[in-house]
Amino acid sequence: MQDDLKKQAAEAALPYVQDCRILGVGTGSTVNHFIDLLAPIKHRFEGAVSSSEASTVRLQALGIPIVDLNAVGSLDVYIDGADEINSNLELIKGGGGALTREKIIAAASRQFVCIADQSKLVSRLGAFPLPVEVIPMARSYVAREIIALGGHPVWRENFITDNGNIILDIQRLDILEPMKLENTLNNITGVVTVGLFANRAADTVILASEQGIKTLSL
Ligand code: 5RP
Repeated sequence: MQDDLKKQAAEAALPYVQDCRILGVGTGSTVNHFIDLLAPIKHRFEGAVSSSEASTVRLQALGIPIVDLNAVGSLDVYIDGADEINSNLELIKGGGGALTREKIIAAASRQFVCIADQSKLVSRLGAFPLPVEVIPMARSYVAREIIALGGHPVWRENFITDNGNIILDIQRLDILEPMKLENTLNNITGVVTVGLFANRAADTVILASEQGIKTLSL
């Protein structure tokens, strides 16, 4: 059922990309539905900037060319999922480990449309473990710094990001000030990216529930 709602959210995002030449495409099971839905309209797009090897494989299987972000400048629209969403459209992302490329594409896009099922909407971020991508040699140092800030970092074992780094998932956080925490964690030497999207939040969130589609924007 949750998967069906993810598909409904993905469907509702299609109007946002109808005039796009080059799409920004995120990662995850909700985005996989979105990519699949592009099949009948793929001829409209010159290509896509992809946030992960997994999405790249899926897009290429459809025949949609992958484009280097450096070759296209800013994008009109970026479509991606999230692990948690609050009422300010701030997000936790990176459950799939693609947070760094996702953050880069979100930053380079004029409109970030987040697609999700209703279960992702929370009153306060932090129940979902907050992913932090870290340069491998800095793992222990960064973990100690996170502990000093009151967090409980857990090494995501047997997982290497597409950028060759490791992930620390910070458990049991009650995130009262998302922007401030994003900046603090990003400032730890050895951190590549934190999966808090507060400085660059979503512009639009499409939420699918049993009651239908709800669109949130600020
Ligand atoms: C991947 C992500 C995903 O958007 C997030 O994990 C949501 O995934 P799903 O659509 O499978 O629920 O941030 O890094």
